[in-house]
Amino acid sequence: MTADASPLPGYYRFHARIYDATRWSFLFGRDRLVRLAAETVARDGLERPVRAAEIGCGTGRNLLSLSRALPGASITGVDLCRPMLERARRAVARTACQAQLHCAAYGPGTFAPGSLDLIVFSYALTMFNPGWDAALDTAREHLAPGGRIAVVDFHDTPAGWFRTWMGVNHVRFDGHLAPELQARFAVCRQELRPAYGGLWRYFLFLGRK
Ligand SMILES: C[S@@+](CC[C@H](N)C(=O)[O-])C[C@H]1O[C@@H](n2cnc3c(N)ncnc32)[C@H](O)[C@@H]1O
Repeated sequence: MTADASPLPGYYRFHARIYDATRWSFLFGRDRLVRLAAETVARDGLERPVRAAEIGCGTGRNLLSLSRALPGASITGVDLCRPMLERARRAVARTACQAQLHCAAYGPGTFAPGSLDLIVFSYALTMFNPGWDAALDTAREHLAPGGRIAVVDFHDTPAGWFRTWMGVNHVRFDGHLAPELQARFAVCRQELRPAYGGLWRYFLFLGRK
């Protein structure tokens, strides 16, 4: 979906202001994902700087942790919502993080084929509606052979009212991502974890092209 057709820039015009103050309380697993992804890529022992990107980087929280975990890496953050990316820009400017930021809807033209060693999606793909499946195909194209994909996101919920509420917030909560990741990438690690006593489950996935 193009940025113009997406409802997300309107949604985040308000939510960008309260994003960092509120999301720590329910976007679980982000630090763990970055740590595991960085460890995995570091173990690959590439002889050049790691080329990493976070798609749907939002306010840049993970970009800062990625740059700490992968010193010397070239890191790019992509996001469709300017208010979110503006916050990322300020966060990056306050630190030694050298991440490049790119305001665009993620698509085949965002990177050259085979040009990345690591792609991170953190609570982004459940908001790619439509387009999450095309985004996975595109990520596969953008990864170099042996490149890694790291995903943390909502998985499922037994509570219909909660699914509906998350839908109002543009999140699709159908357990649809994990099987499609398994179909496209060799599984390096998968975790399924409960949140708030089982109100929902979230997953971490580390895969290899
Ligand atoms: C819930 S936020 C997650 C932000 C960050 N990754 C984190 O973990 O805090 C989802 C982000 O994905 C971005 N996004 C959604 N669809 C996108 C698309 N098609 N292309 C690029 N970014 C997108 C949204 O603008 C939003 O900033």
